[in-house]
Amino acid sequence: MALQLAGKHIVLGLSGGIACYKAAELTRELAKAGATVQVVMTAGAEAFITAVTLQALSNRPVYTSQWDAREANNMAHINLSREADAILIAPASADFMAKLVHGRADDLLSLMCLARPMERVPLLVAPAMNREMWSHPATQRNVAQLVADGVSVLGPGAGDQACGEVGDGRMLEPEALRDELIAFFQPKLLAGQRVLITAGPTFEAIDPVRGITNHSSGKMGFAIARAAQEAGAEVTLVAGPVHLPTPRHVRLINVQSAQQMHDAVLPQAAAHDVFIATAAVADWRPVNTQTHKVKKDASGQVPAFEMTENPDILAAVASLPNRPYCVGFAAESHDLLHHTSEKRVRKNVPLLVGNIGPATFGQDTNALLLVDELGHRELPQADKLSLARELVREIAQRLHNANNDKT
Ligand code: CTP
Repeated sequence: MALQLAGKHIVLGLSGGIACYKAAELTRELAKAGATVQVVMTAGAEAFITAVTLQALSNRPVYTSQWDAREANNMAHINLSREADAILIAPASADFMAKLVHGRADDLLSLMCLARPMERVPLLVAPAMNREMWSHPATQRNVAQLVADGVSVLGPGAGDQACGEVGDGRMLEPEALRDELIAFFQPKLLAGQRVLITAGPTFEAIDPVRGITNHSSGKMGFAIARAAQEAGAEVTLVAGPVHLPTPRHVRLINVQSAQQMHDAVLPQAAAHDVFIATAAVADWRPVNTQTHKVKKDASGQVPAFEMTENPDILAAVASLPNRPYCVGFAAESHDLLHHTSEKRVRKNVPLLVGNIGPATFGQDTNALLLVDELGHRELPQADKLSLARELVREIAQRLHNANNDKT
């Protein structure tokens, strides 16, 4: 996958807290994603982890003091904040957040945050503290004030704490913070939109141990869910049996069969602005699921199963009176343009996305063919997240045009 933070210069600020040990891994994750990382530490952070460790991982000298004579003009707070694409404070202690709220500037990190050009250098904080400290009204007041001041608050997570207690206040894990930062930089093309997505295969049970399914991995649908969420949408993902991590902030509904997928989708479809059907829904299912495992008998007779057709979820959503903007997928083996164009008309949807099923099922890359009433456009072979972002851009453009047409 492409380096998601290539070209980004991140100033990573550490304030004092045991979560400083995770900042070492975070530095690596950001650097691995292509970012340059400039670490700035408070004296409290230095009590938990050394500047040497972070210098080695970031490959840059670490700054700890506003009196650092290495800067020719002796203004580290100005120089550091001017070159940043974002400042991320991780961990952000309760005390450091209180300082930010009050605009205090008695050490390099707080001074740099105050001195940053607010309109072009966003500030993100990843709180890390004991659960009592997090839920204290003073901290909650401070968090609300930071949000009101335009600061992005990432997390915190919940779970085991270093003090032995369990609750809210854990700093998000380094991979999660990296993904939050990646999402932060994506254009918010679907801000305020509600997007419903189906993904993965379905599983049509024959008996308690067997069933009919297909090779869909769900990767394309999950990538679209992530891309839509990164673009600011509120995303619901209805997925058949897959083995994939749920993208952050996406509401996941697990189903097995086509009928369950249909029943999960239909009641909520009209409350969404966009419906994207990426699931490889089984066309047929056994009429009856056997209660007990079907056994071989001595006769050598092969059991016969009566099959019936599954409901077409996409067609059902597309025929709702107040339907969302519908995007279908076509998994074909040949004649992609012909089948995709024909399927778009048959399913009565404005946009259908063709792909070659056998070439993409389970893979990390794909190529897409977008067909709408005006013609077609190819999105050439790329990783699925890049394609998903491109598709989100195409959908956002069409929504925008449709809304303009209405006004
Ligand atoms: N689809 C659906 N419900 C079904 C079958 C398909 O929602 N019961 C959706 C898929 O999620 C996809 C689109 O319809 O967005 C096309 O799926 P595909 O399997 O390619 O098409 P079919 O309608 O099944 O046509 P065929 O298998 O004959 O090519």
